[in-house]
Amino acid sequence: PRPIILDCDPGHDDAISVILALSSDALDVLAVTTSAGNQTPDKTLNNALRVLTLLGRHDIPVAGGAPKPLARELIIADNVHGESGLDGPKLPVPAFAPVTQSAIELMAQKVRACEQKVTLVPSGPLTNIALFLSAHPELHHKIDSIVLMGGAAGVGNWTPTAEFNIFVDPEAADMVFKSGLPIVMCGLDVTHQAQIMDEDIERIRAIDNPVAQCVAELLDFFMIYHRDPKWGFSGAPLHDPCTIAWLLKPELFTAVDCWVGVETQGEHTQGMTVVDRYQLTGKPHNARVLFDIDREGFVALIAQQLKHYQ
Ligand code: BDR
Ligand code: CA
Repeated sequence: PRPIILDCDPGHDDAISVILALSSDALDVLAVTTSAGNQTPDKTLNNALRVLTLLGRHDIPVAGGAPKPLARELIIADNVHGESGLDGPKLPVPAFAPVTQSAIELMAQKVRACEQKVTLVPSGPLTNIALFLSAHPELHHKIDSIVLMGGAAGVGNWTPTAEFNIFVDPEAADMVFKSGLPIVMCGLDVTHQAQIMDEDIERIRAIDNPVAQCVAELLDFFMIYHRDPKWGFSGAPLHDPCTIAWLLKPELFTAVDCWVGVETQGEHTQGMTVVDRYQLTGKPHNARVLFDIDREGFVALIAQQLKHYQ
């Protein structure tokens, strides 16, 4: 199995991403670390523990990360994810505690100890990943790639030009995109196509196990924010699970290697990812950017994987 570390800010779609990753024998989840983003760091850490408790995966080490972005105050998305960060389902209280190390120390320990190269899968602001990369240059050669949810070649979802994860910590994102490590960017271009519809939620609800029931309830809540007609969606965009779907079934996607820059200063464009899809700058590509997804194949993958929790 491919060794991965999930760095997340659960978050409804983060939770589903964790559930999807742990459903597959093809992935070996070495650790779950949490970032501040969708909610405050104490809540995202607690939510990761609640999700792993639901899955009975007390064997996975969990560590909390940086309390706030590198150079800014934290912005949270409680308008999307609610007061707890995972409003909706009744999740168990954590049956285990985080490890004593920080997220950065746990990443370093796991990457150092792993015989294979490790894939980092961030689905929140990139603060922890940036701190890890700058603290441990000696471990860069042990990183296979960074498969992240964040950014957009087109329009934003938090400002007209910025996606939430990058907007929260643009300085961290800038460091990650400049790291020279292989990056796969699952941005809004693809995640806004990865919509889950009402009938898909019913299909998941019909899967007779507690994990699928929880996913259906997470989706019921996640749907509320995305029903606003201003988005023009028919369902809810399942951003973060696109990272895992890419790892499990890359043939569901189309991708283009691009140069990507992060706007840290712009008057109207702070947190924007500038994606040179047509090689207009001549700058060498630093990311594989996902542009399209087979939506039905994606939903089928999720439904199929959830049956593994039987
Ligand atoms: C991203 O922001 C968060 O609210 C989601 O969990 C996802 O990671 C989408 O912009
Ligand atoms: Ca997230």
